[in-house]
This record gives sequence, structure tokens and C-alpha cells, in this order.
Amino acid sequence: MYICVCNAVTERHIEHAVKQGARRMRDLRQNLGVTTECNRCATCAKQCLNSALERSDAAQDSLAVRALQALTGGAPGFEPQAS
Ligand code: FES
Repeated sequence: MYICVCNAVTERHIEHAVKQGARRMRDLRQNLGVTTECNRCATCAKQCLNSALERSDAAQDSLAVRALQALTGGAPGFEPQAS
């Protein structure tokens, strides 16, 4: 779905930008041009950014848990907590 019609930016573009390190609206503005024309996309772009960040954080937590399990050899009694 298009998020920013003026710059033809979709949810996928924002998801990709987050994977590349975008964390704030400023990052989307600089890298994708979001909100640089009519600004009607600001609210939707912010929601899309927050959703992408949540998914990215969840993926990072999952990776961290698996890395800890690999390092500890799945030691009995060791239950890493995802935050
Ligand atoms: S829709 Fe994003 S700047 Fe116009």
C-alpha cells in the first residue's frame, strides 16, 4: 500500500528503510522523501514506522535469545528472557 503518494513510498520501502537503520521520521524524510511535499502522509508514515520498528525489535530479541542459547549450549536451568 502506498503511504506517501507524492513520493511513491510504500510500506515495503519503510520496512526496508528500518532494516537499513531508519529509526525516526527524520530518517524517512531524508532517505525516502516522506512528508516533503504535501505532508498528508505524516500520520500514516509514523504508524508504519512504529509497526516496522516493533517487528524489527521483536526479530532482534528473537536473534538475541537464539544467540544466548547457542552460547550456553542450552544449559539446563538457563532461561533467557526476551525483553
Ligand atoms: S503524500 Fe507524502 S508528501 Fe504528499
